[in-house]
Amino acid sequence: MLRTKHLAIAASIMWFAGMSLGHAEEQPVELQIVNAQNKLFGVHPGFRSNHAKGVVVEGHFKASPEAAKLSKSVIFNGSTIPVTVRFSDSTGLPNIPDGSKKASPHGIAIKYHLPDGNDTDMVLNSFKFFPVATGADFRDMLLAIAASPAGAPKPTKLDAFIKSHPSMPAALKTLGTPDSFADEEYYGVDAFVFVDKAGKKQPVRYIMAPQKLVHISTEEADKKPPNYLMDELPQRLAHGPVVFHLKAQLAQPGDQTKDATKPWPADRPVVDLGVLTIDKAVPDSMEAQKKLLFLPGQLTPGIEKSDDPLIDVRDNAYAISFSRRSQ
Ligand code: HEM
Repeated sequence: MLRTKHLAIAASIMWFAGMSLGHAEEQPVELQIVNAQNKLFGVHPGFRSNHAKGVVVEGHFKASPEAAKLSKSVIFNGSTIPVTVRFSDSTGLPNIPDGSKKASPHGIAIKYHLPDGNDTDMVLNSFKFFPVATGADFRDMLLAIAASPAGAPKPTKLDAFIKSHPSMPAALKTLGTPDSFADEEYYGVDAFVFVDKAGKKQPVRYIMAPQKLVHISTEEADKKPPNYLMDELPQRLAHGPVVFHLKAQLAQPGDQTKDATKPWPADRPVVDLGVLTIDKAVPDSMEAQKKLLFLPGQLTPGIEKSDDPLIDVRDNAYAISFSRRSQ
């Protein structure tokens, strides 16, 4: 937890310093992104600039023997690792109806509490691959959406963006609306690199697989109460744990790791890394989520960043959002 706090404070000082640079185009792209999210969704004090609506739960992770062969990380050594998990809806709207199409991609963020007192995080969503490959494209996508409200003259800025970035509509097609946060599959999208005990490296992409995947139709989603996902999870946990399998898709030599819009071929092997068991809702999720900061680049020996540029952009943007929502 301490490491997370220090990182966030250092990052916020750095990035707020960037604000004084003047012209928007001179600002760090991460600052432009969070500003664009605040413009698109409005400013909601105390809430995340994206994935604002969520629910916090707790449990543990226990790795499979296969995981220890791929990575020397302490989370994969087979011991029971306590976790804090936050499920979320997309957008910076704290009151978005859970069944809205805009609430997808849904998210899962996992904080593994390590024996030495540090944490390591994973932040996944329900896109099978990402709409854009760089921070600049992510910013431009947000600005294009903001500039294209209903009734805007055609072709809109968004039409133009979609034309030049076909990965955006393709990624949107991979989304569905789940009947429960427990019945959704989540993807890491960005590549990370496992390092084994002998120093051998293996690029991977995470998959968090549910026991069953249940997507509902738009008509069914429209009839659901606005908080059905947030309310259902604690109710489900009152009757028993929710289980996921953390898996890793393994890249083959030559597979690129820097472009999250391009999934690896489906025949790449998928290894079961272990079981995530969620068994407890927290008493005050609203309060708990304020203090939590999940960073995709907060890693532990045995797991390294790839050359995917989104990882650093995300770390910096999440720290800026955290610093704003903590004020
Ligand atoms: C350029 C790319 C991206 C940017 C700039 C971005 C930005 C953000 C920001 C600013 C937040 C709020 C963080 C906070 O206040 O704690 C956030 C939350 C989140 N993002 Fe991203 N994001 C990006 C890509 C992704 C990807 C690739 C995934 C998943 C594969 C993802 C999943 C999530 C999730 C699950 C949350 C909520 C985390 C939580 O529960 O605290 N994002 N994102």
